[in-house]
Amino acid sequence: MTKKLVDSYGRSINYLRLSVTDKCNLNCFYCRSDPGRCTVENTEDEELTVEDYRQISEVAVALGISRIRLTGGEPLLRADIVEIVNAIASIKGMNDVSLTTNGILLEKMSQELSAAGLKRVNISLDSLDESNFRHITQGGRLRSTLTGIECALSAGLGPVKLNVVLLKGINDHEIEKFIRLTIDRDLHVRFIEYMPTAGQQGKWSNYFLDLNRVMEIARSVAPLQEVQGEHGGGPARYYTLQGAVGKIGLISPLSRHFCARCNRLRVTSDGKLKPCLFSDAEVDLRPALGDKKQLELKFREAAVLRTDPLIAACNSGDRSEQCIAKRPMFKIGG
Ligand code: GTP
Ligand code: 5AD
Ligand code: SF4
Repeated sequence: MTKKLVDSYGRSINYLRLSVTDKCNLNCFYCRSDPGRCTVENTEDEELTVEDYRQISEVAVALGISRIRLTGGEPLLRADIVEIVNAIASIKGMNDVSLTTNGILLEKMSQELSAAGLKRVNISLDSLDESNFRHITQGGRLRSTLTGIECALSAGLGPVKLNVVLLKGINDHEIEKFIRLTIDRDLHVRFIEYMPTAGQQGKWSNYFLDLNRVMEIARSVAPLQEVQGEHGGGPARYYTLQGAVGKIGLISPLSRHFCARCNRLRVTSDGKLKPCLFSDAEVDLRPALGDKKQLELKFREAAVLRTDPLIAACNSGDRSEQCIAKRPMFKIGG
């Protein structure tokens, strides 16, 4: 029996985020630094194959990981994404295969993904206004993402969680509209504090807003109740408006960081295992592919490299911009 993965600070690792590509079919200004260059770009580095993801996931499951999330860039741009889902979902002991997407391709792919074993999707949606959506994504169509949300719900890929990165002066006037979405739809609308990363356009601090404003507005709409429970093992805290069907989620990596209960590792699409989102430490998995024992050792190496939760977070306002890791978010997957 393989010894389960625990890091040097006693945190169990039971969740893995696998980025399958750094390509994207949107160009959100807060994520991508290159305003002129739109849509799908060529990845510089070779992407891992379906077989690589299968091996990595098998080793991860043997080490106690029971949840795997596929991320990007935009993961649905991978021509073999359905095969990747299938390879991972078929592993015994894997009970939660999920995916984070901008939703554009869900109209076409939800049914297939669900049939391949995908359990649920989280969908980025930073505006409910057509022209603001186009502005944030630099050309995207709101209608495509909204259709994608409905298709995911119809295909049983729920609970569908919507990710709203809160951006001061850009979408903060839409907070109430987002909150009201939860009243009669079983959606989990999650507000996320904007994190400083490499590759963003403009200054992070010009857009950062902590989530206290969201709580204030939610309370002005109806009494709020905290929802207990695990909700997928992620960093969000959940609330519900009195009488509402859906939930409001808060992800506050800066104002109220969750490093002490961080349960995850990440693999980039070019095969690097990342011990912490905000650290440049990486363990190269490529030399170990084809050898499960070696892959296990790489996971153990990454667990040892995990950052002390007391110093890991960029949780102090002044330090935030000094904590920027070299890889941009679209090359990590969030
Ligand atoms: P579930 O809870 O499993 O549904 O997923 P999740 O919320 O962990 O995944 P998702 O990809 O939807 O991420 C939502 C936001 O949380 C994104 O902005 C991620 O970058 C952020 N996030 C996820 N994990 C971490 C983490 O370990 N640290 C930090 N700082 N942010 C994270
Ligand atoms: N801070 C917070 N969330 C971010 N995302 C992308 N960049 C950032 C950032 N700098 C979000 C995306 C997507 C998820 C994977 O991460 O909008 O919902
Ligand atoms: Fe693409 Fe997501 Fe980055 Fe937007 S936030 S450009 S959808 S990877």
